[in-house]
Amino acid sequence: MASPKTVAVTGAAGQIGYSILPRIAAGEIFGPETPLVLKCLEITPVLEALEGTRMELEDCAFPLLKGIVCTDDPRVAFKDCDLIVLVGSKPRGPGMERNDLIRENGPIFVGQGKAIAEVAKPDVRVAVVGNPCNTNCLIAMHNGGSVPHENWTAMTQLDHNRALAQIAVRSGAEFSDVRNTIIWGNHSSTQYPDWHHATVAGKPAAQAVGDDDWLRGEFITTVQKRGASIIAARGKSSAMSAANAAIKHTRYLYQGTAEGEWTSMAVASDGSYDVPEGLICSFPVRCPGDGTYEIVQGLEINDFGREKLAKTLAELQAERDTVKDLLG
Ligand code: NAD
Ligand code: LMR
Repeated sequence: MASPKTVAVTGAAGQIGYSILPRIAAGEIFGPETPLVLKCLEITPVLEALEGTRMELEDCAFPLLKGIVCTDDPRVAFKDCDLIVLVGSKPRGPGMERNDLIRENGPIFVGQGKAIAEVAKPDVRVAVVGNPCNTNCLIAMHNGGSVPHENWTAMTQLDHNRALAQIAVRSGAEFSDVRNTIIWGNHSSTQYPDWHHATVAGKPAAQAVGDDDWLRGEFITTVQKRGASIIAARGKSSAMSAANAAIKHTRYLYQGTAEGEWTSMAVASDGSYDVPEGLICSFPVRCPGDGTYEIVQGLEINDFGREKLAKTLAELQAERDTVKDLLG
């Protein structure tokens, strides 16, 4: 058995919390040989509900689960953590864009970034899910003291999965046949879902789909607006698919992407693809499996893609301006 990992999840009594905690406790991030301690953070009024989640986790009797801590204190939750999944924040409702939440949710990530810097392990990995996730990640990272910028990521895995699924369904292929879609930019309705490097059972996706107009039009807008479509249908934002994506995002970090494949993750730009340095932008990344990632280099982006990328980058820069007082 490996040594235990300590994992914190914020918003643990919320929708995503309820879906993700059993999967983490079952070993889906670190694998079946790694025991873990779960730290669950909630706001004080929700601690009673969180106690119900704690009892249910206990009742699952997961063999790998060595302890459960429930708290409303980020310094208790993040103490000695290897991995922190920042979910806790308000979801949007019908008719809202995710960045309408920015002034309400942004401040949460100031205090949590500071707490992470104070008490987590120096090489902690942080994955931000709470929206608007790119900019919340930026805020937490700027308040995160000496935790390296490479250790902060935000989740666009759900958009990546949505793009892959749309291509599979349209081309009549299995989900598992589709590889190497890309989400560029912001987890928002300006994101650029890119199919140009994707394959379906080894063939270029464009050939498998056979409908360029659909790819340039409905494919992109369906992925961009999928979160809103789910809210319109369910009355609540995605939770099962979001938790699944957060498991995949973190599993890629610790168990790696497959040979010849990449996924999408929002990470601090190092200037790749002319994305302004420091913006938390979604890129194609490969993960060797040791908690790190590398941005896939040298992919061609055509004029159509450059235009889309410019739009989503402009939005990320505007969001950064809106929260500049929170950037520490
Ligand atoms: P939810 O309302 O069901 O749960 C959120 C929980 O967070 C609540 O229990 C709330 O008490 C808690 N919380 C609020 N402030 C907190 C704080 N300061 N510290 C700790 N906990 C706090 O919402 P949900 O459906 O679980 O969604 C959570 C967030 O994830 C939302 O912002 C949502 O928009 C976002 N989300 C992101 C993606 C993505 O792809 N990046 C996907 C789905 C949802
Ligand atoms: C999603 O993409 O489903 C989430 O970000 C929730 C939302 O507000 O759309």
